[in-house]
Amino acid sequence: MHADVVVYNIGTLLTPNQVPPLKGFQMSKLLEIKNAYLAVKNGKILAFGSGDYSNYVAKRTHLYNAKGRILIPGLIDSHTHLIHAGSRENEFSQKIKGVPYLEILKQGGGILSTVNATRAASYLDLFTKAMKSIEEMLLFGVTTVEAKSGYGLNLETEIKQLEVAKELNNNQPVDIVSTYLGAHATPLEFKGNKKGYINELKHDMKIIKEKELAKFVDVFCEDSVFNLDESREILIAAKNEGFDLKIHADEIVSLGGGGLAVELEAKSADHLMAASEEDISRLANSNVVANLLPSTSFYLNKDYAKARRMIDAGCAISISSDYNPGSSPSENLQFSMQLAANKLRMTPNEILNAVTINAAYNLGIDQNTGSIEVGKQADFVIMDSTNLDYIFYHFGINHTNDVFKDGILVVKDKTLY
Ligand code: NIG
Ligand code: FE
Repeated sequence: MHADVVVYNIGTLLTPNQVPPLKGFQMSKLLEIKNAYLAVKNGKILAFGSGDYSNYVAKRTHLYNAKGRILIPGLIDSHTHLIHAGSRENEFSQKIKGVPYLEILKQGGGILSTVNATRAASYLDLFTKAMKSIEEMLLFGVTTVEAKSGYGLNLETEIKQLEVAKELNNNQPVDIVSTYLGAHATPLEFKGNKKGYINELKHDMKIIKEKELAKFVDVFCEDSVFNLDESREILIAAKNEGFDLKIHADEIVSLGGGGLAVELEAKSADHLMAASEEDISRLANSNVVANLLPSTSFYLNKDYAKARRMIDAGCAISISSDYNPGSSPSENLQFSMQLAANKLRMTPNEILNAVTINAAYNLGIDQNTGSIEVGKQADFVIMDSTNLDYIFYHFGINHTNDVFKDGILVVKDKTLY
């Protein structure tokens, strides 16, 4: 069959090739094909391999020379707080002086200051800012992004955020998967009445479901935010409404959010910097993905998650940016990947599996994306390197040269195309 696009002269094509979630030692394995080609038809992967590709080429086939570089699946950022207004550099000097993240939140800053800005922002302002971030992410080679609400903390603004996500999904190449995070903090109007706010959340999630605005519900399970029992109550209600679940778990204080994720069969438990040994074993004995966010450890000057321990125990790991205005103000997933290497001591192969197939699995989209496989979406990236190690070794810069999304060239020579 003739292809719409054939990428040829790929130095090495690297892709996950096992059934997800990849757990423990499985994460160190990738399929590597030298001198490869990849053929695309109707936005899907038609064929790939090494050697002769002339069967796929017809008069109208677009031939693209990868110039001996590596080709990898499109990166998947499976934890971001993409849609919000404003920024928090006004808290930066407090942060540098060592005022703790949760202390700034208690003083009404932190998440709550972004809530004020997001409530006040127009739909267009939110859309424009998020579009700018999405373009940045795409330039880094990210072809799918999970986006959480959680800066409205009232139905009207949460819906505004989720509608922006939906419109963004329809108006640019990157796929966006939405998560309702009404349980990100208790808004000031419910101060002293968390029970009331939880009831409100249970009501609001029904409306979000009716409007089909989110696939996941997430909770910030943390000391002085939502405790374990409150998180359980919110997540059980969400599960009963038909949502898939995610949890901000054991980010700062070890509360047992990782174990709760296993108990409720969440798709992922995220952060886990303070996860207990017991919760690590529970995660290892489940298919819940440990979604680690090393840029947040870097930015909050906190411990890094015990990734090596988790891999030895047999956990499935994904890596995400946690892009948000407070604890990780950076769209750069490659930086998170470099921290995963240098600080989490994960190998390049493990990290590539973590940001592709395991991320796709935790978003429930691994049937369509997350690896180079015939029939999957033709989402792939040509990196400006002839080997995988180099992109971890040479840190802080963008190594993405070209991006194809659904078979269409969207970044060419490091520029949006
Ligand atoms: O993942 N932990 C909760 N939420 C974000 C931070 C959000 C914010 O500070 O605005 C996080 O770290
Ligand atoms: Fe987060």
